[in-house]
Amino acid sequence: MEEKKFFIRGLGHQRTLRGEVFISGAKNAVLKIMAASLLFEDDLHIENIPKVEDVERMKELLIDLGAEIRQTGERSIKINTAGVKKTELHTEISQKMRASIVLSGAMLGRFGQVHFPHPGGCVIGERPISMFLNAYRGMGTEIERDEEGIYHLKAPEGLKAKATFLNKQSVGVTETLIMASILAKGRSVIKNAALEPEVVDVAGFLQKCGAKISGLGTTTITIEGGKPLKSGGKVYKVMPDRLEAGSFLVLGALASNDLLIKNCQPEHLEALTSILRFSGLRMEAGKDYIKVLNNEGAEFKPLEIKTHEYPGFPTDLQAPMAVFMTQVKGESSIFETIFENRFGYTEDLNKMGARIRLWHPQKISIEGPSRLKGGTLHGPDLRAGLAFIIAAILAQGDSVIENAYYVDRGYEAIEKKLQKIGVSIERAK
Ligand code: EPU
Repeated sequence: MEEKKFFIRGLGHQRTLRGEVFISGAKNAVLKIMAASLLFEDDLHIENIPKVEDVERMKELLIDLGAEIRQTGERSIKINTAGVKKTELHTEISQKMRASIVLSGAMLGRFGQVHFPHPGGCVIGERPISMFLNAYRGMGTEIERDEEGIYHLKAPEGLKAKATFLNKQSVGVTETLIMASILAKGRSVIKNAALEPEVVDVAGFLQKCGAKISGLGTTTITIEGGKPLKSGGKVYKVMPDRLEAGSFLVLGALASNDLLIKNCQPEHLEALTSILRFSGLRMEAGKDYIKVLNNEGAEFKPLEIKTHEYPGFPTDLQAPMAVFMTQVKGESSIFETIFENRFGYTEDLNKMGARIRLWHPQKISIEGPSRLKGGTLHGPDLRAGLAFIIAAILAQGDSVIENAYYVDRGYEAIEKKLQKIGVSIERAK
């Protein structure tokens, strides 16, 4: 893979960025609807697809299985999975992306078997798959793992509907079990289900295409399964990416007096907007936009954040928020409750001049404000990669952000969006 880097010239803590940012479609919704294409008898038409690397990996996985994917526009595709016969997920591609596991539910429901390696993705904790496997066992699946580490799942009599209680409110398990249950005969119930907007949006579209699902957006979801779905020409338009919008809001809060974040859904970002307002940020939110107002000379209040399942504070925004906290007067803290190892980025921020103390792997405190200076940063995951970009933009001097691939996994043409609002950023090999 081509090793790419970003070069950023920092603003030296000046609030000079201004203009508009248009938010792309949500990575964590599009990957799941693409996996759901295996539930459809006819073409699945998807629009507003973000041009990000993970979408390319999901396309490759589906094509390798035998799916036909036609590009119908710059950001739209049609997927037809009628020709899929293979039940083995491509090993190397699956190992690049956690979302590959979401395919297992639809595959198991449709073919009664599926074979896959332990899924990859960002290194932010253990990322076990035991909850998927336990739920499948409950639905009548036999599971083996061979010497190469490949899981072999077989449901000789087909998947049986079942009530499953999730011991954690997992996004991926909820989505995958919804898909498996659509093809399992009978009534399945998922208790302690995830409430994330992407889960509700994707499953809501499946509902429109014939899936009998009730309770979406609550912790108890019921599915009457047994039949494949038909889109009948309905189009799934990918919802705006709340994490991209949230990251731009943090950037605007620190480096702009006039930034309009367009095509977002502020109702999905209340955990962030309410805490930023509490801290003292002047902003305005409408139905589909957020505007950062003049905050010249603002002194923000310190904050205490605990990451939580939706509608709590999203784990995917804690790294950008840590950068915000470096600019606040006093001591702030973050308690990460979703992943075991998501503070890998703090060391590099400290090298830039931040004062972050790691109390234990899931708790940090941040003493601010700090003047940041440019440096060479190596993002441990895609969300931390964007946090580094924000820190580099604020800092005095030049920075290099290595392994840009991580950022490209989840953010479309980030340097173009940033250049448009006044950031000096270039990409190079
Ligand atoms: N978990 C288990 N066992 C399992 C599955 C999950 O213990 O079998 C645990 C996880 O280790 C974690 C917790 O459950 O501690 C919750 O994780 P969840 O399953 O909800 O996460 P996910 O589905 O793997 C999605 C997003 C993540 C986001 C989390 C939490 C996608 C592709 N990924 O992951 O996004 O952080 O939900 O909201 O939807 C990202 O986009 O950068 C990213 C990491």
